[in-house]
Amino acid sequence: MPLWMLRPARCTWVADCGHVGGGLGERFEVSPPCETRERPRAMPRFHLSTPIYYVNAAPHIGHAYTTIVADTIKRFRRMLGEDAYLTTGTDEHGQKVERSAHKAGLDPKQFTDRVSAAFRREWDELGLEVDHFRRTSDPRHALAVCRIFERCLENGAIYKDSYTGKYHLGDEAFVTDEEAAQSDPEQITTVTEENYFFRLSDFQQRLIDLYESQPDFVQPDTRRNEVLAFVRSGLRDLSISRSSLRWGIPLPNDPEHVFYVWFDALTTYMSAIGYGEEESGETDYERLWPIDVHLVGKEIVRFHAVYWPAFLMAANLPLPRQVWAHGWLIFQGGKMSKTKGNIVRALPVKEVVGTDGLRYYLLREIVFGQDGNFSHKALATRYNADLANGIGNLASRTVSMLSKYCGGEVPAASGGDDGGLPALAATSIADAVGHYRRFAFSRALESVWSLLSRVDKYIVEHRPWMLAKSRETAAREELEATLYNTAEALRVATALLAPIIPDGAQKVWEALGQEGRVANVRLDRLAWGGLVAGTRSGPQRAVYPRLDVAKAVKQMEALEEQALAEQAELMGRGRPVKRIEIDTPEIEIGDFARVDMRVGLVQAAEPVRKSRKLLQLQVDIGEAEPRTILAGIAEAYAPEQLVGRRVAVVANLQPRKMMGRVSQGMVVAASLDHGKPHLAGFSEEAPVGARLT
Ligand code: MSP
Repeated sequence: MPLWMLRPARCTWVADCGHVGGGLGERFEVSPPCETRERPRAMPRFHLSTPIYYVNAAPHIGHAYTTIVADTIKRFRRMLGEDAYLTTGTDEHGQKVERSAHKAGLDPKQFTDRVSAAFRREWDELGLEVDHFRRTSDPRHALAVCRIFERCLENGAIYKDSYTGKYHLGDEAFVTDEEAAQSDPEQITTVTEENYFFRLSDFQQRLIDLYESQPDFVQPDTRRNEVLAFVRSGLRDLSISRSSLRWGIPLPNDPEHVFYVWFDALTTYMSAIGYGEEESGETDYERLWPIDVHLVGKEIVRFHAVYWPAFLMAANLPLPRQVWAHGWLIFQGGKMSKTKGNIVRALPVKEVVGTDGLRYYLLREIVFGQDGNFSHKALATRYNADLANGIGNLASRTVSMLSKYCGGEVPAASGGDDGGLPALAATSIADAVGHYRRFAFSRALESVWSLLSRVDKYIVEHRPWMLAKSRETAAREELEATLYNTAEALRVATALLAPIIPDGAQKVWEALGQEGRVANVRLDRLAWGGLVAGTRSGPQRAVYPRLDVAKAVKQMEALEEQALAEQAELMGRGRPVKRIEIDTPEIEIGDFARVDMRVGLVQAAEPVRKSRKLLQLQVDIGEAEPRTILAGIAEAYAPEQLVGRRVAVVANLQPRKMMGRVSQGMVVAASLDHGKPHLAGFSEEAPVGARLT
């Protein structure tokens, strides 16, 4: 028998340990180890990062998702007794940001100061525990970028050459001809530049060796396979500087060039903890590098799992241990994006369901690693079912029964039917901890809920309210056992839930009379029996007040509108600054006259099979037969909204085949930055067939 089993489960040094009061050793012949944190001596450390967020968009719930997951992992690792750290920041250089600043009428520095501060505030307001927040515009960051570049240069991994290629403006990256053909033509431009190149092609075999020797370097497996296939298909050298751009970090050996945003951005993970600054004193770098996990969205795996390790190999620096890619939050049919306008913000949701409600929904409803839909209604419904009616209700019932039947004190369980709860609790602990370790959050929650559902049944089976009416000793013993087992199962479940719903977990913890912070419980030592008889339960309060779903949804949507206006202000859109730059070449009136535009009346509209974007319209423009026109407006309009509507039609456009159908013209629509299309129309009943001149 290990020594700890012979000791009483008393905590001798931790002031806020839950194990207080006498008689512990008497009650348990063998005791579980102390569940609270140990003295922070030689604690293993754990360091994880989120990507650093682009400041050309205000924070939205997609960004919050990555950061909330990271915060959950950090809290979990702390509850394993580890010294866990979370690094994040903002990605501020490059053409996209320069353009957004320009649109806002600000210089890039002013603009990035403002948006970066908004990200910081957002994480604070969501209660996320960030340890290192680094901006790429911070001069300390530039030191690190230059240091890594110089090491790569010294090791022969960098050369200068001229390059012509197709460049994607939105992605800020050169793309292959094939990728260019699949992209929005307006985003593609041909660029010829003298550039510094990184010899990525030299690292193909070393990268393959890395993925093979460390099979969990990229996770989940689907992403690992993609990365392997990409690297096996051959790597081209990578341009890592731009001479056409000013808003960036100048190369130390050639200040006419600035660093390519990804070379710059990836280095944040090291600059954030002091890499490059060691000469000016002690930093966290030595302690926190290599990082344990880079948490990233699936669209940026290649940068993290291919380019980043190659840069580090070239610089002869230790590699991260893992890159873990999650899926996207889908809203209104697509990944949230500023250009599509399908964005939800986190703070309006938090206002209505609290941070726990938001965290719980994101981690319960979305299988981590896969895409998942976001819906306000599903969120409010989940909140009610699992938090208000689930753990919240169980907590208030338990405290109320303790108060009514046991004078507000946890009774001793001196026998009686335990309903199999101790064994089930042990399974839930092992399963949930295992799932948390693998980032399978929804499964961890399922394991806890299997325990909570069993407790509900156990209460119904034992009917404490009936037992309380009896004067028999056996009934009294059964009542006490029932309440002890219920409260203890709730205590175990609460500790397991603390990484995901920290606020509510703390309240339930206090309601059960537990001292200190639930966050200080050691999940790897959590065991049945930690609840001490005689503990006075805390006050009874509604941890998660029930919501009226319809009302809550309306409230969230109204707050969202408000947040949208505030964020437009933040991004400079609400201010009277020059917002639109008309940079198309001038034309003559004759050029315009070549376009024959007519007033059309939509007679019929239907979706196009297998196309998310297209609608097929029948439009009368005064000819003998209506025209069949395919319009890319399906994400903005339902077919029935269009019938009877007057639209502007380009009537002399060459017919064009799309999705196996022929479009005989084009309806004119407006969109800002390729966002949602708005059909051009007429405020009066313009005659059908009339020409627009
Ligand atoms: N700046 C780069 C990352 C550089 S890391 C050295 C970037 N920024 S981002 O702001 O576009 O995205 C940052 C993270 O937010 C990504 O992991 C991305 O997947 C995540 N999300 C942005 N929108 C999202 C959703 N709709 N859903 C889930 N995550 C999303 O890429």
